[in-house]
Amino acid sequence: MNFDDFKVKAGQWRKRLTEVKTKNPPDGFTWYGYDILANVDHVDGLLSGDSRDLLARVAGERIADIGCADGDLGLLFADLGHEVDLIDWPSTNWNGMRGVRRLTGLLESPATVHEVDLDSQFALPSDRYGLVVLLGILYHLKNPYFVLDKLASHTRYCLLSTRIARYTKAPKTDISELPVAYLLTPDECNNDATNFWIFSAAGLRRIVERCGFRIVAMRQLGDVKASNPADAEHDERAFLMLESTRI
Ligand SMILES: C[S@@+](CC[C@H](N)C(=O)[O-])C[C@H]1O[C@@H](n2cnc3c(N)ncnc32)[C@H](O)[C@@H]1O
Repeated sequence: MNFDDFKVKAGQWRKRLTEVKTKNPPDGFTWYGYDILANVDHVDGLLSGDSRDLLARVAGERIADIGCADGDLGLLFADLGHEVDLIDWPSTNWNGMRGVRRLTGLLESPATVHEVDLDSQFALPSDRYGLVVLLGILYHLKNPYFVLDKLASHTRYCLLSTRIARYTKAPKTDISELPVAYLLTPDECNNDATNFWIFSAAGLRRIVERCGFRIVAMRQLGDVKASNPADAEHDERAFLMLESTRI
């Protein structure tokens, strides 16, 4: 499926999810509070030329949505016929993974939900994926090298997004061209102790390549002039399409 067609499906999926969620208000928890499907527009801006065939290239192959939150995106892949693993971890998840379990049940989706702590020496539910979606989670992980290294030996493609920064805050130092990552204090960013490593763009390129991925495309958005690792108003994100060089 070309990404243009996928975008149309995602629009229809958004309506269906809104309807299902509205008709079935959760009992004792709330649905994830951010717009997961907004990632479709960000990936749309990332993919050009041949890479817009990404989903055709992985036709019939298994997909993992890692850090899936309520699973809105992974469940769409399942609806389109892929076998899908929805992966998250209860203690970091918005609603203890009750949302993803409830939504999977309401949709009668064949996708499978897995509790996997990516901060442990984890094993993936399946040996081989066509695509792993790793959106908005890398900066929440203690060991990004371990995770990316493992993924490069289990998936052909990876769609990755994470927060990045051009400057450190104090002293203000330009790190954009340096292959580095900034380690946050527990209360430095959004008062959220699960925020760890904020890479520079060069650092992000370096780690994915060292782990065994080729960068097919990279897109930066948000504050692309003066981003730093901590401030909400200086938030920059990178989206990457990666292809494994190891499988
Ligand atoms: C910011 S949300 C991203 C949600 C969605 N992928 C998106 O891009 O909109 C990060 C997700 O990563 C999960 N996560 C954080 N640390 C994790 C860990 N150690 N193991 C598994 N999942 C983790 C959180 O529970 C949360 O659901």
